[in-house]
Amino acid sequence: MPLNETPRKAAPGRARVLVTRRVFPDLLEQLCQQFDVADNQEDAPWSTTELASRLQGVHGVLVDPARRVDAQLLADAPQLCAVSNVAVGYNNLDLAACTHAGIVATNTPDVLTEATADHAWALLMAAARRVVESDRWTRAGNWQGFALDAFLGAEVHGATLGILGMGRIGQAIARRAQGFSMPVIYHNRTPLALSPDAGTAPPVARWVGKDELLASADFLIVLVPYSPATHHLLGASELAQMKPGSVLVNIARGGVVDDAALVAALRLGRPGAAALDVMENEPKFDSELLPLDNVVLTPHIGSATRSARRGMVKLAMANLADVLQGKRPRALLNPDVWEKRRVYVHK
Ligand code: NAP
Ligand code: GLV
Repeated sequence: MPLNETPRKAAPGRARVLVTRRVFPDLLEQLCQQFDVADNQEDAPWSTTELASRLQGVHGVLVDPARRVDAQLLADAPQLCAVSNVAVGYNNLDLAACTHAGIVATNTPDVLTEATADHAWALLMAAARRVVESDRWTRAGNWQGFALDAFLGAEVHGATLGILGMGRIGQAIARRAQGFSMPVIYHNRTPLALSPDAGTAPPVARWVGKDELLASADFLIVLVPYSPATHHLLGASELAQMKPGSVLVNIARGGVVDDAALVAALRLGRPGAAALDVMENEPKFDSELLPLDNVVLTPHIGSATRSARRGMVKLAMANLADVLQGKRPRALLNPDVWEKRRVYVHK
């Protein structure tokens, strides 16, 4: 489909909004009722150069988590007031640069929590029970009949679940673990005050140090935000601490796990299997992962249910509209900017 070369419904006096990835048409239409909107309807993202030129005269922009927004890009957008990330993770945004430029940054927490927890669970089960590997084998015509020792997997029920990054999504995953009678251990920098009444996580979740988490978990799900502090939080030495035959799920961000070290560790069976929704340098991830049967790969679809993705777009649009209408947005990432923010002045 062609790109919109000019804003839809261009009208003097309306703020200009750029939507950098394809979104749901009915939601886009709602945005068009309020603003002059230009959007990208193609599958591919714009290059940085193209985006920079399209940002000229734009007051608010919707971006996805693969789009780096840094000082250099912002320098090309002198009228930009709001950057609205359509994701909860915001490692793609240089928040200091946004604040320095007076630009309000927002994200989309909560609306995708349950969907992402579901996908983490799907990955865990797929890796544990060798779903993808046995599907490939079956399709290839290898099946001769029932065999007692075929595709033996890891027992999920009653196994110990470890969660690295027990925030909103980690807690939603921990709640699911109760149905599988799994003791849950977790590691955050700050232990949570979990109680039976908290309603945020099951009381069975127990804080442990990172070393104990690595050594004790039969299943380890990674959910820490990506930052310089969490780059390769799981590298060769941490992977070597994991139990032989354990299962690692990374649904956080590529870069939290050292994928090259993971390839080497998987060849040694420690961990025994991995499931990755996110990878370093995605979509051009480490091709050494491809021949490994004990790896399940999905293309960053953790939140990809219709309801969650629509919720994300709606919240991102609401955040953007709030900022352009002078209201504090619900999911403000850089509150320090508020008093000194650039303000869109309706002409
Ligand atoms: P959240 O509520 O902010 O939870 C993050 C947790 O990580 C917090 O409890 C935090 O606790 C902990 N943490 C941060 N740094 C840590 C460190 N160095 N070591 C140990 N724990 C650390 O975020 P969320 O909504 O659950 O989302 C988590 C991440 O999932 C997002 O940032 C995003 O990257 C990813 N995500 C991916 C998908 C997908 O499609 N694959 C979808 C949604 C989200 P402390 O601050 O106490 O350490
Ligand atoms: C997706 O990866 C998100 O952070 O929302």
